[in-house]
Amino acid sequence: MKFRLFILLFAAIAVLSACGANEDGYRIVDGTIVFDVPERIEGQKSVLGLRTEPMETVRVGFIGLGMRGPGAVERFTWLDGVEIKALCDLLPDRVASAQKLLTGKGLPAAAEYSGEDGWKALCERDDIDLVYICTGWQQHVPMAMYAMQHGKHVAVEVPAATSLEECWQLVDVAEQTQRHCMMLENCVYDFFEMTTLNMAQHGLFGEILHVEGGYIHNLDEFWDEYYDNWRLDFNQGHRGDVYATHGLGPACQLLDIHRGDRMTRLVSMDTKSVNGAATARRLMDADTFANGDHTVTLIQTARQRTILLQHNVYTPRPYSREYQVTGTEGFANKYPVEGFAFRPDNQDEDAIPDLEDLNQHSFVPEYIMKPLMEKYRHPIVRDIEELARKVGGHGGMDFIMDYRLVYCLRNGLPLDQDVYDAAEWSCIGNLSAVSIENGNMPVEFPDFTRGDWNRIQGYRHATVE
Ligand SMILES: NC(=O)c1ccc[n+]([C@@H]2O[C@H](COP(=O)([O-])OP(=O)(O)OC[C@H]3O[C@@H](n4cnc5c(N)ncnc54)[C@H](O)[C@@H]3O)[C@@H](O)[C@H]2O)c1
Repeated sequence: MKFRLFILLFAAIAVLSACGANEDGYRIVDGTIVFDVPERIEGQKSVLGLRTEPMETVRVGFIGLGMRGPGAVERFTWLDGVEIKALCDLLPDRVASAQKLLTGKGLPAAAEYSGEDGWKALCERDDIDLVYICTGWQQHVPMAMYAMQHGKHVAVEVPAATSLEECWQLVDVAEQTQRHCMMLENCVYDFFEMTTLNMAQHGLFGEILHVEGGYIHNLDEFWDEYYDNWRLDFNQGHRGDVYATHGLGPACQLLDIHRGDRMTRLVSMDTKSVNGAATARRLMDADTFANGDHTVTLIQTARQRTILLQHNVYTPRPYSREYQVTGTEGFANKYPVEGFAFRPDNQDEDAIPDLEDLNQHSFVPEYIMKPLMEKYRHPIVRDIEELARKVGGHGGMDFIMDYRLVYCLRNGLPLDQDVYDAAEWSCIGNLSAVSIENGNMPVEFPDFTRGDWNRIQGYRHATVE
């Protein structure tokens, strides 16, 4: 009798521990890693489609003026309806040099902040609407949360967050404060991607089944330049696709992620680290390096479509974001050659298919490509392209991003990227690492919208009617 009781107790403990999450917040269900979704706390509500009070002028403060930040300050000097109120960096000389971008153009000088906590004082000002964060990844979430908690909208560089816990923090604080939190994913505004998205939204590719994206960029010449080695330091300690958003952002907009579809699970694999490890040995005197030289992630969606993502910042390869779209009726490719292919609709029905003739599967010729690109140039690009190309920022896409951010804020429209995009695109780092560390086990995506992913049908940029 006693023995039977013991067995029952043992079985109950086994079942309970199988159901409960481990210390990393996940459990394994039928061979898949499943993270707990925290309850939405009372008083907190969804920010899907969030509209805030229109504002005549967007008053902005910038934090982080290293390699990336000053370009953003410069771009904002070209925008109408903007006042640059404050500039902040840990290092005062970086603030002083960004200030010259304003005074050199005859614009009023901004308030200057520096030192470890200067950013807090910036967020506490009552004459700022938007805090624009360009620091290293590790500071994004504390700064974004503090800014929202002080009533500010937030624009934060990529990736917005470095862990699942941080992703939830962004979502929760945005929902608690009803503030915008937009990740500054600029690649969704590149000209080819915008045209392709417009073509997709006009049905030219039929149903999109598969999208590829990636970040292939050898960072050898940059490792030394990041403040206090923050980037190599992060990669040294983290496996997985730690910089997924440039490849994933355009894919998610094409697939209407949390606007009718959602990413449900992923599987990741990486190579060993050879070049990364050598760089870390040279620059950090480190014996180990977690991040694989090449990381591959496969994602499936609720509507059974797929995304292939790649990350490699270590080996000598031409720059590529791998952008590729496969639909039931067509195909788009950006790297290394831009091209579109469609089902030939003027094919002779009686013709015997010629297996040797591979030309019928080629990109459309230049004389079709050019007018096609022109016809489907995205309306929001059409309005601003000339100025964007002049101001620049990765050829103009950065300027289109800033222009859209300010346009939507001024008009009280939902932003092009919401906090759920920021969380979904940023969580890949954490989820891919967990997959790899568990022998490439599938990992379920948490639903950051907490059930609202099907409420809006189709991704669209908001405009004034
Ligand atoms: N979207 C893109 O195309 C793109 C391109 C480059 C970089 N980025 C992103 O921009 C961000 C910054 O990258 P970077 O290359 O400019 O790095 P960086 O190291 O050159 O600049 C970071 C800056 O943050 C400052 N900083 C650090 N701690 C601070 C604090 N407590 N308060 C205020 N300032 C502080 C540093 O002094 C430094 O000037 C990163 O998130 C990166 O991923 C995005």
